[in-house]
Amino acid sequence: MGTTVGLLVGMENSFPAPFLEAVNDKGRADGIRAELAVLGKVAEVESPQRYKVVVDRISHEVPFYRAFLKSAALQGTVVVNDPFWWEADEKFFECTLARKLGVAVPKTVVLPNKEYVPGIVPDKSLRNLQFPLDWDAIVSYTGLPAVLKPNTGGGWRDVFVVRSMDDLIRDYDGSGTKTMILQEFIDWEDYVRCVVIGGEVLVFRYAPNRSFFERYVTDDPPTGWLQERAAEDALKLTAALGYDMDTVEFAVRDGILYAIDFLNPAPDFDNFSIKEAGFAFVVDKMSDLVLSYARGERVPPWHGRQRWWDFVGEGGA
Ligand SMILES: Nc1ncnc2c1ncn2[C@@H]1O[C@H](COP(=O)(O)OP(=O)(O)OP(=O)(O)O)[C@@H](O)[C@H]1O
Ligand SMILES: [Mg+2]
Repeated sequence: MGTTVGLLVGMENSFPAPFLEAVNDKGRADGIRAELAVLGKVAEVESPQRYKVVVDRISHEVPFYRAFLKSAALQGTVVVNDPFWWEADEKFFECTLARKLGVAVPKTVVLPNKEYVPGIVPDKSLRNLQFPLDWDAIVSYTGLPAVLKPNTGGGWRDVFVVRSMDDLIRDYDGSGTKTMILQEFIDWEDYVRCVVIGGEVLVFRYAPNRSFFERYVTDDPPTGWLQERAAEDALKLTAALGYDMDTVEFAVRDGILYAIDFLNPAPDFDNFSIKEAGFAFVVDKMSDLVLSYARGERVPPWHGRQRWWDFVGEGGA
């Protein structure tokens, strides 16, 4: 029997077919084939495992896939990205990690939820929480304007720039049961976004203030120190997190690169976002990555050893 690579995807439509085709083309001689995974009955022990490698682009939104992936990982399937760490990862943790690694991040605080599930009775269940919060102390740390955003999340959902205490209280009051972070707003002079796959990195200039499809700037790539520093810091963060694929964003202010968002374990791989050269990079590096796992030439970053504690040194840097 040959070796099979499975792909789990959501509604994205430009990446899957070229990726499967590249794996099939390059892997044919070694008996490796790739397909869209189809999952129905999943028992706790499946022998043999259908997939040697599964590329997961969507289990954050389909919990059944994640249940399968964790069990499959235990039985030897290589899962890209690590389903256990992805589930645990949060932006606030990542800010602490960046500081420990010597990568600049905006000053950030994590906030108690505004609301809780119905069973929580505030004066009985929440006795460990300071109330009311000392908003002046919080804002004196982050400054204003500041960015209020979910501790986990994506797609710019519930990301607010707050310019006053009134803005902050209003948007916090609307945050419901989400855990939010409040972060110094970096008034940037330049902005870059790095796509990292299997230790390889492509650095784009990025324009957050443009419309969605125009944000990746491809006619003016960063060069020199900016390109080098972005690549170095993006690799450092991604290696410590143990992700095979990730996107890392930096806002540049006074020549310093501030890591803004690097919790992107299902990076945007659409050809209309990252454009032709970015798309070719992604298909090439993703297919090489899974083929090296399928051939047993590569060990996942999360198998047995390195986790963030190995990267920050004794007691942290
Ligand atoms: N601290 C900050 N300073 C300046 N701008 C920020 C800051 N935090 C977020 N932003 C802006 O808001 C955008 C969205 O924030 P962020 O990337 O954290 O959210 P996201 O939902 O994970 O987005 P994506 O889907 O692009 O990954 C960023 O691209 C950036 O332009
Ligand atoms: Mg994100």
